[in-house]
Amino acid sequence: MGDKTKKYKFETRLMHSVNHKVNPEHALNPPIFMTSTFTFEDTDQVGKVMNFESDDYVYTRGNNPTLRLFENRMSDLENGSGAVAFASGMAAISSVLFSLLKSGDKVLGHKTLYGSSHTVLKTLLPKYRVESEIIDLTDYDLLQVKLVEGVKVIYFETPCNPTLQVLDIKAISELAHRFGAVVVVDNTFATPFFQKPLDLGADVVVHSATKYIGGHGDVVAGVAVANDLDYIMKLKFDYMCEFGGVLSPFNAWLLLRGLKTLAIRMRQHEKNAVEVAKFLENHSMVEKVYYPGLKSHPSYKIASEQMEGFGAVISFEVRGGLEKAKTMVNATELAQLAVSLGDCETLIELPAAMTHLGYDRETLNTFGLTESMVRLSIGIEDVRDIIDDLKQALDKISV
Ligand SMILES: Cc1ncc(COP(=O)(O)O)c(C=O)c1O
Repeated sequence: MGDKTKKYKFETRLMHSVNHKVNPEHALNPPIFMTSTFTFEDTDQVGKVMNFESDDYVYTRGNNPTLRLFENRMSDLENGSGAVAFASGMAAISSVLFSLLKSGDKVLGHKTLYGSSHTVLKTLLPKYRVESEIIDLTDYDLLQVKLVEGVKVIYFETPCNPTLQVLDIKAISELAHRFGAVVVVDNTFATPFFQKPLDLGADVVVHSATKYIGGHGDVVAGVAVANDLDYIMKLKFDYMCEFGGVLSPFNAWLLLRGLKTLAIRMRQHEKNAVEVAKFLENHSMVEKVYYPGLKSHPSYKIASEQMEGFGAVISFEVRGGLEKAKTMVNATELAQLAVSLGDCETLIELPAAMTHLGYDRETLNTFGLTESMVRLSIGIEDVRDIIDDLKQALDKISV
């Protein structure tokens, strides 16, 4: 980006990188360009802009200074060369997939995905004659067989929602690239603070910026980042602009505000999560804990190598099945029963009944996602309060 802020460390770049060019009053915080359209001096200027001889702004669905700042900052933080902001994580994910696939192509998705992403792959894309297959992407022999048969795109989350399985981005990307497939990684759970998929070989990174990027539960947003500026231009002007899932400049401003504290929030989220995971692992009413920061988790090794922290989403199974899980979840007082994650507040939910409702029961069971699994998004409250709350809720189901 040829920008002097590149020399700064990640924490500094969260608020200083690629700053606004348009800031006549020198405000510390970027102005919000809350406008749908931009005016021209005269028709000569119109001609220049329309012929791409100038990058002056035209219309917010195409470009807007507040959106551009958010996009440039996310691109910088993910070590990309460009980014496109979207009205939601799903707008980013569906636009990226539609931009990379056409009728007759094949996409492979990992077995554990956020419910709506699974629906896009399994239900939506096939309507446009895109073949999709859900497999275990950690089975490299099977992956290679599929790649030999012909695959255009590989799509996965890591860590996965809600099993917290961590996939080896480097290994999957190397294999995929040998066969010319494009790798798209959802980095929502880790954020660029803990993991940079482009550095590990992925081609496109997507986020539900609704989660840790915003961080305060007050905005729905998405973003896609890549190392290929031509692709980013295509995604922006041929897909985001035409599907129309544009982010509001106000929401871009909220995301820029959220980003300033990403590092300290992620550190605190994770510190709390490690303690909560250990507490859960030692509780007699908890059968199994899914958290990659626990040595007992099958992904601990790859998570330690690939990530700079384990994140703050924890899933677990209580002893006694669904009814016990419901009683426990209903008994929490501090942890709020809600979908979403990455907010300052601790949230609790039952994925099979909430965020992953798009899966049929049989698929859920095949992929080890039980109806009684509980998912926690650990907040940044005092961890003693979080643990006390979970303890009193678990006590209510203790026999
Ligand atoms: C991993 C993951 N990806 C994508 C999404 C979708 O994002 P949004 O709700 O911002 O559309 C979610 C939402 O929970 C998610 O958890």
